[in-house]
Amino acid sequence: MALTGKDLDHAAALLKEGKLVAIPTETVYGLAGNALNEDAVLSIFEAKERPQFNPIIVHARDLEQIQGFVADISAAAKRLADTLWPGPLTILLPRITDIIPDIVTAGSPMVAVRIPQHPMTLDLLNKLEFPLAAPSANPFGYISPTTPQHVAQQLGDKISYILDGGPTKIGVESTIVTFEEDQVIVLRLGGVSIETLEMFMGKVKIQASTNDDQPLASGMLRSHYAPVTPFRQGDVKLNLSEVDPEQCGIISYKSFYPEVPESQQRVLSPQGDLHEAARRLFAAMRELDHMRLKLIFAEIFPEVGLGKAINDRLRRASQPHS
Ligand code: TXA
Ligand code: MG
Repeated sequence: MALTGKDLDHAAALLKEGKLVAIPTETVYGLAGNALNEDAVLSIFEAKERPQFNPIIVHARDLEQIQGFVADISAAAKRLADTLWPGPLTILLPRITDIIPDIVTAGSPMVAVRIPQHPMTLDLLNKLEFPLAAPSANPFGYISPTTPQHVAQQLGDKISYILDGGPTKIGVESTIVTFEEDQVIVLRLGGVSIETLEMFMGKVKIQASTNDDQPLASGMLRSHYAPVTPFRQGDVKLNLSEVDPEQCGIISYKSFYPEVPESQQRVLSPQGDLHEAARRLFAAMRELDHMRLKLIFAEIFPEVGLGKAINDRLRRASQPHS
């Protein structure tokens, strides 16, 4: 079982040896390895049981480090980076192929990059001479971890150390973007809202993948984030009328449903704060999933701000398992 702790020097030493360490970020916990070391990256795929066509995000300490492994940062990308990094935003940039191994990008000429906003992980990156490749620290296809305990439960026996940075602040993964000319194309909804992107960059285009065999971003596989318990997003009242409410779990925005035992319900934000709801979403999905209920129902959240990313995750959780 991996040790959990706050020892940055220990974490840095392990990473330098090519070992894996779970790291906190502001979005979700990542399963990190040396991005420039092919064997380390391979062991990330093994630990997650993740198909290798699925590329991994590279986490860097600052723009200077990024300039060491990308061929070019367009003026528009630079503007976005200057505005939102460190933060829950991932940008696709052309990689220098001699530096970033093929396995990191699944052969693509573009590497996904972000500067995470977590003091502990930034300190860790400052102790290292290489950037960190890190997908979310969950088995492939399951809900992303937002606490060190989530990581330990599922990957504890496969990694060397879990760096404990507390529960994550944002709770959904980063927003992934690329550019067409100077227009921002959103490949995955996430911690930076569409409204925020548009405030800085003008109209953006949301490009949802429909092809599960060749996902642009793994969050785009339809059945991603799926709990084990059958899951359905929609009109909860209507759904409840068709089943025995005693056997159901519910994820709602602001209030309880009187038909269902309160212990089987997670109200994500009684005050109606979508940031709070996003922060609590994945832990709520896990807790209900562990209760061995017949069905979990989730409301449709308001389609604004982080509500879009919340609905995206709930919709994917509702897809039948592949
Ligand atoms: O918030 C986050 O983004 C977290 C934390 C740990 O940083 N990471 C995360 O990684 O969610 P992951 O691997 O679970 O999802 C990122 C997705 C990948 O599955 C992949 O499909 C997409 O980003 N991606 C990575 N590199 C890419 C590339 N070169 N081109 C296109 N998509 C890429
Ligand atoms: Mg993931």
